[in-house]
Amino acid sequence: MAHVAIVFWSGTGNTEAMADSVAKGVREAGGTVNLIQAGDFSPADVESYDAFAFGCPAMGNEILEEDEFEPMYDAVEPALAGKNVVLFGSYDWGTGEWMESWEQRATDAGLNVLDSVIANLDPDGEAQAACVALGKTIATA
Ligand SMILES: Cc1cc2nc3c(=O)[nH]c(=O)nc-3n(C[C@H](O)[C@H](O)[C@H](O)COP(=O)(O)O)c2cc1C
Repeated sequence: MAHVAIVFWSGTGNTEAMADSVAKGVREAGGTVNLIQAGDFSPADVESYDAFAFGCPAMGNEILEEDEFEPMYDAVEPALAGKNVVLFGSYDWGTGEWMESWEQRATDAGLNVLDSVIANLDPDGEAQAACVALGKTIATA
């Protein structure tokens, strides 16, 4: 069974709600999961997991959150080459450009990006279901 790290940053709870649904999907698929705040994850933790789900909302101007998430992600990305990863996050007024950039960046770094889910603000039922499916994807890859 896959042991999955769900590593996220959430300022107002929307991406956190998505993380909870991703975790539900992992568990429904028979995997085990740890939900981890971005500031609590480091490169040394990578070897403890089979697969990874990273969550961060659109911040700045279509970028990752700069104070906690991006420094953590910068540090762990090299250790994730060849690993199965899914990405998720919430946004408001944009079009999902931050997620397109993030997927491209991760792919260029050699991560095996299986899928991603974005949700407009607080994830509605459809977005929650997409997050559950994302959890199943990462747990069974
Ligand atoms: C400082 C700041 C910058 C933001 N920049 C963007 C942006 O570039 N594009 C966008 O679509 N939404 C942007 N948003 C909106 C957030 O992505 C949105 O509120 C999201 O739901 C926050 O998720 P969270 O509850 O997990 O923190 C920004 C919000 C803040 C506070």
